Amino acid sequence: MTTTLSPETIAIVKATAPALQQHGVAITTRMYERLFVDPEVKALFDEAAQESGEQPKRLAAAILAYAKNVDNLGVLGQAVERMAQRHVETGVKAEHYPLVAAALLPAIKDVLGDAVDDNILSAWGEAYWFLAEILTGREKQLYQAA
Ligand code: HEM
Repeated sequence: MTTTLSPETIAIVKATAPALQQHGVAITTRMYERLFVDPEVKALFDEAAQESGEQPKRLAAAILAYAKNVDNLGVLGQAVERMAQRHVETGVKAEHYPLVAAALLPAIKDVLGDAVDDNILSAWGEAYWFLAEILTGREKQLYQAA
């Protein structure tokens, strides 16, 4: 389990913020294309929010905020709480997280192409799992309380 991110990983993730600012929605749109090959996963999502393009925008904004604040996660507390609440409302489980990782990381490569190398992708992989652990930890508490 990752308990902290290394200074190198933090620096790489922060350095990708401008690319995410510019291409974030293209990346999350591509991520959902990859993710929704699985009909069970697709069924978790509100179709209206998908079709209006709202959901890819929300996820892109969350990823950008994370990239910018990866060294100061305290400022994301409320946003993380909202994500966890929404995940519990929609039945997201810890076992779904590997599916999103397997869709998101290749989607970053699909969109940014040669601008990302293995080093950048592996930094994002670590950063993803770091946030995923925070979310699944909180979601577990919320499921237990329900
Ligand atoms: C680190 C990983 C993740 C991040 C950063 C993330 C982020 C978000 C954000 C920002 C929202 C919108 C919350 C709002 O309404 O304001 C959201 C909603 C949601 N997420 Fe995630 N999420 C992650 C992992 C997952 C996983 C693994 C699944 C399951 C496949 C998932 C499924 C959903 C669903 C179903 C919603 C509600 C969408 C709707 O309203 O239709 N998320 N997530």
